Amino acid sequence: MKPFSRITGTGSYLPPRRLTNADLAAELAANGVMTSDDWIVERTGIRARHFAAPGVFCSDLGLEAAKLALLAANVRAQDIDLIIVATSTPDMVFPSTACILQNKLGVAGCAAFDVQAVCSGFVYALTIADAMIKTGAASKALVVGAEVFSRLLDFKDRTTCVLFGDGAGAVVLEASDTPGILASDLHADGKHVGILCVPGHVSGGNVLGDPLLKMDGQAVFKLAVGVLDEAARAVLAKAGKKASDIDWLIPHQANIRIMQSTAKKLKLPMGKVIVTVDQHGNTSAASIGLALDAGVRSGKIKAGDLLLLEGVGGGFTWGAVLLNL
Ligand code: UT7
Repeated sequence: MKPFSRITGTGSYLPPRRLTNADLAAELAANGVMTSDDWIVERTGIRARHFAAPGVFCSDLGLEAAKLALLAANVRAQDIDLIIVATSTPDMVFPSTACILQNKLGVAGCAAFDVQAVCSGFVYALTIADAMIKTGAASKALVVGAEVFSRLLDFKDRTTCVLFGDGAGAVVLEASDTPGILASDLHADGKHVGILCVPGHVSGGNVLGDPLLKMDGQAVFKLAVGVLDEAARAVLAKAGKKASDIDWLIPHQANIRIMQSTAKKLKLPMGKVIVTVDQHGNTSAASIGLALDAGVRSGKIKAGDLLLLEGVGGGFTWGAVLLNL
């Protein structure tokens, strides 16, 4: 049995419908909701987001990202023995989006399940896949973060609807003789459920509660900055590395100001941070995979680089993964 796990391919996908801040502001203004490109850019760094077309589901976005990751890893779908999808916007209440994705990939038999950790979903899913590979429960895992967050947005609430978008990111994680994933650190604190949630559920054929996203942005912001720093330091300590060893920080893409603050605390220049939030807004569980793939495909991230991935989101959940690509 090989003792380590290593990412061997990355992929990502954004649905074709792209709205700039100006496009979205114009649509919102038609319904009496006022915002501006200036406000969105200054407070968040977001310039555009992608929205999936009606009838396009989480598994469809995940499928496109997964196909690219498999191609990059030179692995056939039938050779995958574990599929994990991190999402808060599954196709159905059940079965899992991972099972639907498995079928769309044209394969059957391997373990497939979803992880629900909202914007921390990608680091949660990667950590689970790493643990399963290291125990011999799997040897070639497909880890996907995919979201159609536009379906949860209240377009009358300008404090949230300008922030989020749809997309997917994926990696193939394989058993390896050389270390890839070096350390992980996952946390949750359920007492903060109310600061970021979609407080609805299905019961008796009806949706009860309010199935639209609610967020106390400032509370999330303050918590995020603190816990991301703690998680970063925890994985560095576990792996015996220093912040200055990091080649690339790949944070959850929610707000450029949170990323700047995280980098500053670690004394990393912004030139070592992969930033894609400007192009797709906050895509929740998809964002770290999207940013990782963008960094790899742009040529910035190279084989062997030390990467710090970190996520934070509803739950409240947070975590980090330190790895050599
Ligand atoms: O993925 C999970 C992680 N989520 C996050 O990381 C989100 C964390 N939070 C944030 O990113 C920020 O708190 C926000 C971007 C959500 C908000 O930025 P802020 O600097 O905390 O703004 P604010 O909530 O203090 O609002 C400032 C002003 C308010 O007006 P007044 O009360 O000062 O007159 C808001 O009503 O900005 C107003 N405002 C807007 N104006 C134009 C809020 N949303 C908008 C908008 N357009 N879209």
